Amino acid sequence: MTKACVIGWPIKHSRSPMIHGFWLHKYGIEGGYEKVAVSPDDLPDFLNNLAANGFSGCNVTVPHKEQAFKLAHELHDEARAVQAANTLWLAGGKLHATNTDIYGFMTHLDQSAPGWNAKQRPVALLGAGGAARAILYGLLQRGASDVRIFNRTKERAVKLASFYEKGVRVVDWQNRDEGLEDCGLVVNTTTLGMSGSPPLDLSLNKLPNDSVVADIVYVPLETPLLAAARQKGCRVVDGLGMLLHQAVPGFERWFGVRPQVTTELRDLIVADLGE
Ligand SMILES: NC(=O)c1ccc[n+]([C@@H]2O[C@H](COP(=O)([O-])OP(=O)(O)OC[C@H]3O[C@@H](n4cnc5c(N)ncnc54)[C@H](OP(=O)(O)O)[C@@H]3O)[C@@H](O)[C@H]2O)c1
Repeated sequence: MTKACVIGWPIKHSRSPMIHGFWLHKYGIEGGYEKVAVSPDDLPDFLNNLAANGFSGCNVTVPHKEQAFKLAHELHDEARAVQAANTLWLAGGKLHATNTDIYGFMTHLDQSAPGWNAKQRPVALLGAGGAARAILYGLLQRGASDVRIFNRTKERAVKLASFYEKGVRVVDWQNRDEGLEDCGLVVNTTTLGMSGSPPLDLSLNKLPNDSVVADIVYVPLETPLLAAARQKGCRVVDGLGMLLHQAVPGFERWFGVRPQVTTELRDLIVADLGE
């Protein structure tokens, strides 16, 4: 029986077992997907013994994404671009690593805001952490040529921007309201707005009404940012779709079936989030 897992520290709140469990059942696959708490100290041993422990691969979450990238033997383009891995699998005795957050975000954006075009107007990216790195890469791949990065800690934004020769510029966090002028897309990748975190203080007054606003926070599903954007008439993209779609490539690698992200799956996770 093929088995995969998600590892993190802590791992209790991961929804990945629910997503993969849904697909295993739906496609009648005799496989397993578990969550395993792995401490940072234990990560090298765990990954070295993945096959011995009966796993074909795993998802990797906080705080292991960068370390997993370093420990893998075969790095795929997306993992290299983001310098972090969230999906690992064994092939030919080697541990392969990729980053499916890029695919997850872009696929959900395409589905939720059809016709949106990265090349047409500037993009405002709030945050410069791990998720921002993945999303920035995805946007540049699609031809975005004016991405404005706003981050509380400016040096982190400068470092992120420095990976690219063009198409990215850093704007002071304090100037985020004005910085939305002319933007066709706003993406919040900070933790602000997440339940238990402070709200994101951002005025959408300068943002054109026909823009798209995405928030990758998914608890709550409708963040105050998305509620404000909806009220303004903007198209909104929630964070749950990214979570669901990022799981697709891993499932296909481990279990050999490309799964569908359906309303039924989404409803199951929404119910679990308590919405
Ligand atoms: N939907 C999905 O599938 C998905 C996938 C990945 C992540 N996420 C969510 O995305 C968020 C970010 O994840 P990550 O892995 O990128 O985290 P991270 O690397 O820790 O980055 C956190 C970001 O939030 C900013 N931030 C935190 N507290 C702030 C505050 N009080 N004021 C202003 N900025 C603040 C940080 O700014 P500084 O640099 O100044 O600290 C940084 O830019 C989390 O909520 C996570 O759950 C969702």
